[in-house]
Amino acid sequence: MLKRIIDGKAISKTIRDSLVPRIMKLKENNIIPGLGIILVGDRIDSQTYVNMKKKICDNLGITNFDVKLPEDTTQSRIMAEVQRMNSNPQIHGILVQLPLPKHIDEETILNNVSLEKDIDGFHAQNIGNLALNRQGSTATKLYPCTPEGCIELLDRSNIEIEGKHAVIIGRSNIVGMPLALLLLHRNATVTICHSRTKNIEKITQQADILVTACGRTQMVKRDWIKEGVVIIDVGINNLPDETKKRGYRLVGDTDYDDVFEKVGAITPVPGGVGPMTICILMKHVVQLAEKQLECKHEQQAQSAKEYEDRINKYGLGEGLNYTI
Ligand code: GUN
Repeated sequence: MLKRIIDGKAISKTIRDSLVPRIMKLKENNIIPGLGIILVGDRIDSQTYVNMKKKICDNLGITNFDVKLPEDTTQSRIMAEVQRMNSNPQIHGILVQLPLPKHIDEETILNNVSLEKDIDGFHAQNIGNLALNRQGSTATKLYPCTPEGCIELLDRSNIEIEGKHAVIIGRSNIVGMPLALLLLHRNATVTICHSRTKNIEKITQQADILVTACGRTQMVKRDWIKEGVVIIDVGINNLPDETKKRGYRLVGDTDYDDVFEKVGAITPVPGGVGPMTICILMKHVVQLAEKQLECKHEQQAQSAKEYEDRINKYGLGEGLNYTI
């Protein structure tokens, strides 16, 4: 039987725990996974997200190289930081926290992050690889973290995707668009709704899987959904609440209490998609650090082979003036 609450906190912990031995193995090989973070401006939400990411890095033993720049930073200053991180071998993945201030050309910044360090999968070529479902050995398979986290939540809760009608509310480059592609590649029938969609409730009522990622507080109500739908709520909104010390509580784009009895399963807010985004980010850092280890082993094997070839050709003695 399907559990009605999809526990993102527990699932993300399982994934994070699975990273621990992988990080240990990297360290045995003198590689410490490193995450470069660029945060521009004073947005409280972005600062909170970055602090959460840094805390999880610390807990896992991933080094974070964070740079905080003021709101009025120039494009060339951010670009210089990106280039510096691109060429730092201790940094395996680079995260530019979005949104960037309005005067910054976000597209150019993201496309200057090295393809191999594009931990968020936001580079146009990585999005292109995702759109084309490129699985070849030369394709960098880095997908945006939140959409990948949503797929993990479904998979790890044994929720079938193939053949299902997945409706996504929201078409952002960070969530809605890449998630639509991932679901499509898993053979779902995908509909994307957005701010100009007419009769949105008529469409959401057809969903077997409904993803809400539009940033509208508790927009989806009981009469918007069909019985047994699986809801993945990506929204994180502040709802005024005088009973709370800080004066508000976090809620999603779905009215959780209103829909609860009608759904097959649902992610809570907080404790659903949020922790998954961070743990997928950590998984990507580890994957990229493992790639560096793989390259190191390949180089060693190549050097050993060259050494052996020279011995076979010249024998031991002259001509062997390099080491492995
Ligand atoms: N801002 C909101 N979500 C994200 C994300 O997943 N990555 C980055 N870099 N910025 C974000």
